[in-house]
Amino acid sequence: MERVQGKVAIITGGASGIGLATAQTLAKEGAKVVIADFNQKGAEAAAQEIVNQGGEAIGVFLDASKLESIKETVDKTVETYGTINILFNNVGLTNLKKDLDVVNLDLEEWDHLVNVNLRSVLAGCKYAIPHMVKAGGGAIINTASMAGFASDIIRTAYGTTKAAVVHLTKYVATQYGKQNIRCNGVAPGLILTPAAKNNLSPELLDTFMKYNALPYHGEPEDIANTVLFLASDESKFITGQTIQVEGGHYLANPTVPDFVAMSKNQ
Ligand SMILES: NC(=O)c1ccc[n+]([C@@H]2O[C@H](COP(=O)([O-])OP(=O)(O)OC[C@H]3O[C@@H](n4cnc5c(N)ncnc54)[C@H](O)[C@@H]3O)[C@@H](O)[C@H]2O)c1
Repeated sequence: MERVQGKVAIITGGASGIGLATAQTLAKEGAKVVIADFNQKGAEAAAQEIVNQGGEAIGVFLDASKLESIKETVDKTVETYGTINILFNNVGLTNLKKDLDVVNLDLEEWDHLVNVNLRSVLAGCKYAIPHMVKAGGGAIINTASMAGFASDIIRTAYGTTKAAVVHLTKYVATQYGKQNIRCNGVAPGLILTPAAKNNLSPELLDTFMKYNALPYHGEPEDIANTVLFLASDESKFITGQTIQVEGGHYLANPTVPDFVAMSKNQ
C-alpha cells in the first residue's frame, strides 16, 4: 500500500535519526523526498540509498538557523519536483554544556536554539505554505518533544522552544485550515536513534525504562510511522494536534513506579 503516493515531501534534519527513518518511510510509501540537512554528504547518501531502492529523492544542504537557507530548500524542492505537499519540520537540538538552568544558561546559545528549533519551523511554514495553497492543500508536521510538556533542571531553551512549537502548530492549523492545509506535531519521548544509543549510559536507559508504561524504548520508526499517518489522508480530520509518542513515560502519577516497588516489598 502506498499511502503518500506521488506526494512531494521535505524532511529537515533528514540525514540521521528520526528524520532519516521518516525519509525512508515516506519514500517507501511513494513520496518524492527532499532530505535537507546541515550534513550535506549524509543527506545525499540517504537520498542515493532511496534511489537505489527504486524511490525518488534528493539530498540538499540546509542550515536551519538561516532564513535564506530554508527558503533555498523550498525553492530547490519546487524547482526539482514542481510543488510541495508535505513538510516535516524536524530539525532540533540542544547543547548540554550551554543550555543550562535559567541563571546559568548561555544567552547566545538561547538565541541560536530559538532560531534552529523554533524560527526554522516558522520559516519552513512561511515559505512552503504558498506552494501548498497553489497545490490545493498539504500536510505540515512539526517535531516537538516531551520536553515541551514537562520541565527539567537543564535544557531550558530546548524545552521552551519545543513548547512554542506545539503552540505554533495550532496557529498554522487555525490560519490555513480553510485552504486545506493541516498542521500537526509529534512529541517524541526518548527515542533510541544511533546517536542516543551511542551516548546514553545503561543506567540512564534503565531509569527511562523504569518510568515507561511499556516495557521497551522508542525507536526512530515509531516517530516515522506517526509522521506517515499525519502526512497521509488517513488523518484528514486531524489538525492542530501534537501526538505524544513516548511509551507512556509521562502518563501516570509519577509516584506509580515507587508504589509498585513498595508493594512488592510488603
Ligand atoms: N531522539 C530523541 O530521543 C528525541 C526526543 C525528543 C525530541 N527529539 C527531536 O527529534 C528531532 C530529531 O532528533 P534526532 O534525535 O533524530 O536527532 P539527530 O541528531 O539524530 O539528527 C538531527 C539531524 O539534524 C541535522 N541538523 C542539526 N543542526 C542542523 C541545522 N542547523 N540545520 C540543518 N540540519 C541540522 C543533523 O545534521 C542531523 O542529521 C529533533 O527536533 C529533536 O529535538 C528527539
